[in-house]
Amino acid sequence: MLSAERNEMLTACARDTPMGAMYRRHWIPVARSQDVPLAGGAPTRLRLLGEDLVLFRAGDGRPGLLSEWCPHRGASLYFGRNERADSPTGPGLRCVYHGWKFAVDGSCVDMPNEPEESTFRDRVRARAAYPCIERAGVIWAYLGEPELRPDPPRLPWTTLPEGHVYASVRLQLCNSIQAFEGAVDASHVGILHSDIGLWDAGDEFKRVRGGIAVDKAPRFYVEQTDFGLTIGARRRMRGGQAYWRFTQVVLPWYVVLSKEPDAPGSGHAWVPVDEHRTYTWTFSFRDDRPLDAQEVARWRAGGGLHAPLVPGTLTPTMNRGNDYLINRDLQASASMTGISNVGMQDAAVQENMGPHMPGTVARLGSRMDRGSERLGSADAGVVATRRVLLAAAAALAKDATIRPPGALVEDQLQARPYPSMLVAEETGWHEVRGRAEAESAGVTAPRRGSEGGRPAGGAHHRDRLDAPRRWMDTAGLRPRRGGVHSGLDRPRRVDRRRAGTRAARGADRRRGSPAPGTVRDLRADLDVVARLYRSGG
Ligand code: FES
Ligand SMILES: [Fe+2]
Repeated sequence: MLSAERNEMLTACARDTPMGAMYRRHWIPVARSQDVPLAGGAPTRLRLLGEDLVLFRAGDGRPGLLSEWCPHRGASLYFGRNERADSPTGPGLRCVYHGWKFAVDGSCVDMPNEPEESTFRDRVRARAAYPCIERAGVIWAYLGEPELRPDPPRLPWTTLPEGHVYASVRLQLCNSIQAFEGAVDASHVGILHSDIGLWDAGDEFKRVRGGIAVDKAPRFYVEQTDFGLTIGARRRMRGGQAYWRFTQVVLPWYVVLSKEPDAPGSGHAWVPVDEHRTYTWTFSFRDDRPLDAQEVARWRAGGGLHAPLVPGTLTPTMNRGNDYLINRDLQASASMTGISNVGMQDAAVQENMGPHMPGTVARLGSRMDRGSERLGSADAGVVATRRVLLAAAAALAKDATIRPPGALVEDQLQARPYPSMLVAEETGWHEVRGRAEAESAGVTAPRRGSEGGRPAGGAHHRDRLDAPRRWMDTAGLRPRRGGVHSGLDRPRRVDRRRAGTRAARGADRRRGSPAPGTVRDLRADLDVVARLYRSGG
């Protein structure tokens, strides 16, 4: 469970909140390039981290992201005139009320209702103008301080050549943390999604389904990394074998999923629209060959981990308004949910969680109160993810110049999709993780590409930052002198039978690893930030 103030802190996204500040230190996927195709085409409204924005492709082809509200008298730039590159004042978006015109960098390039000799135009800018880049068929924006901007993202799906990645995005009616937690909550997979193969889920799920169905109570191993967490889930199989899957949790909102042999890789991002709603991104990719037409056609139709959408919108055809087209007969006979899409099975649960936090506008989406939940050992990944998110936000609130986890390119490059593994049951976490890491390095080594092939990030960042310390140092999560570790520094095996018992706590102490909830440095940080946050500081 989480106290009300920590829950508030975890689920906020406004600029003046610790989490909102952390989100603004990352490049954010905001739209698919193909959905903003035309230079000089119509702008689109985009609410992001609680900010109302307009996204457009300027006349010269560059994407622009401006505050929706004109700085003059607040007209919506959604109705703006997106002018061509060869217009007398160049490309830009012109407010139709009094004609002020803005370039993608936010500068005002024309002000026709002021005298020609006026210099007022030079002192006016769009209320917000955020830089955009395009990678992997996606437009990414940066909403933070210019001097703290990280290098472009080098996640597994952004380093591949064109034609190797398919991305989709849909609107989800719940707080982003609820959706994010679903991805690190591995025990639901064999239950909520049971029998997913009945609905054309595709070959990549067959082995997964086989492995997951056998043992519904997997053991979890959580290891803290520079980008966030690596979570391993071990399921016992018949014949003395164990089936392992891994989730790379890349802060602040990504997961990179385990990869099955010959199957495409998969990843997700959960980006807050605001406190009530989320952009749920799904990335499917292959590093060994371009995607073939058949698999792209299937994903486009909403197959696999993607979802069918109402044309021209980000709203799934199966949605809260129609109970996700639940089929109760199917539920009775063949399926846990009776809902015929993996992502919609997740959405049906996550969009309808409660009780809600005070002030939640349920009509918009679910923002759950975590004060009365009952977490078990199967929730180790959920607990660890909350802790690293809060710790990272707390560290940043103390020292804004550190690089938050997941923002450093050199760390992103480590977050490779690990292959799922079938190994002898007695194989330990260290060995299986080592093998998965080595295998992933062989199959998804970073490619040399448009950025010159350097191990991007590190030295370049250090030149630009006064205090290039990593987030873990500030959060007090580094191993301390004398060999004492915080609860997340070392691989932590969560044993369902022993978790929380006196014997388990004793063993933790002997290993120098305190039981969960006793990491004093981290708690002190969080308390400080919670107080600051409460007082609006
Ligand atoms: S409100 Fe936009 S130009 Fe006046
Ligand atoms: Fe799920």
